[in-house]
Amino acid sequence: MSQTLQSNSYNEIPYESFPFQQTHPDRLATIAKLFGLQSPNVETCKVLEIGCASGNNLIPMAEYLPKANFLGIDLSANQIDEGNKLLKALALTNIELRCQDILNFNEETKFDFIIVHGIYSWVPAPVQEKILAISKKNLSPDGVAYISYNVLPGWHMRGMIRDMMLYHSGKFPDNDSKIKQAKALLEFLSKSVQGDKNPYGMFLQSELEILKKQNDGYFFHEFLEENNFPVYFHEFSSAANRHGLKYLGDSDVRTMSTRDLTPEAQQLLTKTPSMIETEQYMDFLRNRMFRTSLIVHDNKNPVYNLNSAAIVNFNVTSNLTPAEQNIDLHSANPAQFITHDGTTIGTTEPLIKAALLCLFESSPNSMTTAEIIEGACKKLGSKPPVAAEEIAKLTAQIGQTLITAYTSLPAGSLELTTRPIKRSSLISLKPRAFKLAQIQAGMIGMVTNPRHQMIRLGDFEKVLLPMLDGKTTITEINKNFKDLVNTNKIVVKDNGIQAEPNRVREIIQQQVENALKILAKNGMLVD
Ligand SMILES: C[S@@+](CC[C@H](N)C(=O)[O-])C[C@H]1O[C@@H](n2cnc3c(N)ncnc32)[C@H](O)[C@@H]1O
Repeated sequence: MSQTLQSNSYNEIPYESFPFQQTHPDRLATIAKLFGLQSPNVETCKVLEIGCASGNNLIPMAEYLPKANFLGIDLSANQIDEGNKLLKALALTNIELRCQDILNFNEETKFDFIIVHGIYSWVPAPVQEKILAISKKNLSPDGVAYISYNVLPGWHMRGMIRDMMLYHSGKFPDNDSKIKQAKALLEFLSKSVQGDKNPYGMFLQSELEILKKQNDGYFFHEFLEENNFPVYFHEFSSAANRHGLKYLGDSDVRTMSTRDLTPEAQQLLTKTPSMIETEQYMDFLRNRMFRTSLIVHDNKNPVYNLNSAAIVNFNVTSNLTPAEQNIDLHSANPAQFITHDGTTIGTTEPLIKAALLCLFESSPNSMTTAEIIEGACKKLGSKPPVAAEEIAKLTAQIGQTLITAYTSLPAGSLELTTRPIKRSSLISLKPRAFKLAQIQAGMIGMVTNPRHQMIRLGDFEKVLLPMLDGKTTITEINKNFKDLVNTNKIVVKDNGIQAEPNRVREIIQQQVENALKILAKNGMLVD
């Protein structure tokens, strides 16, 4: 397909653009550090995003990293125009969104992080080659590039569905009917092919469940675009090597662990001669269909034997909650900590119990290793060590648990970052939300927080956020809400039913206070 036609398809059916946590410079820097490499300073980094669509991945990074610089390019003029409208409203000066073909990108600038999400498999071979050429030429010496792509063998199964949809939808003239018909075909197949004990039927049903949730833009560009070239991981790695680059690791580092495999498989994989082969066999075992690979210059030598002492390079944030209220810190009785999805980790070590408890109490703020050691010693009634040898011993002990948790527990249970995460719980008399949050609340009812997560807002927060401009006092905000109730623009509820008029004022005050606390906890308020 020619470039012009391709750009038209994204102009006609835009690809809804979202923030992707796995592409954030801090994630990329963290993984480089975890594997023993130097990594650029995230606060002042330069970032290039290739195929940025309307910029909803890059714009929040620019808002929350004001000293860093961002450039996004995309072929679709409509999507870039949409992004530029938001940039104008935000008055950001550290970001440029540019309508440009990847093939014509000839900058000399070096970027610390290059992000290419959802592009590589969806463009023809010359564009794929150019993406790798840019990743070599424009990556700073310690830089990290992120490239995601569809992989085999998993994508063979999706590809089968794509082939059937292309055959069926090809009979229809316009893109709207193609999308409708392709969805109808999948629905028809999954209903008509027996699901019980029939692997084919079961597969169709599970795909239908996944695809039902996707919007039309994703559906069209994933299944009905002419370009879709999944590759084997080893092929991607070789292509990177040809360009003087090498595989560093996966942006979801947990996928690099063999812990979920059978003991026999784990044992066999210890015999593979390289990380590339190990990862390739893991794709065979897991039937993986999508990868988020990080690549670096080929003179780098990542170390995959994780060093627990390296924990000192990170700030740790934990969402692990103690399973019981009173944890016995002084005995070897087991204690459990639970993740948000119910996974538990247990320990009998007093130091680890105390460390996890400190992290729990500090959440959502991060802690350094020195702070964890100090806090844990205090809980155990001992003085923090001063001798280097003793500090190193405790660091290694804590580091082993935390690095293992980071590389094995479900995403979001325990995070390592290169920068501290600090949230103030103090709420100003004239609260101010980040401009991006004020605008996104009014536009899409969801906001991106500084940790690059999308937060869905309740009806109350959607109205509140645009009022948080740093000029309006909390008293005025309460009054604004009262006016909205009086003019029937909003309804205030008391235990699920419309509040009695004499209770409205009190309920508004309570809800404003609660909402401000939640927004502060999510880092949406400027200190
Ligand atoms: C599947 S979308 C992914 C968008 C975004 N990165 C994301 O993941 O949400 C692919 C994007 O690549 C852009 N694109 C395709 N070919 C391109 C080219 N040759 N040069 C620049 N952008 C291109 C499209 O316009 C589209 O916005």
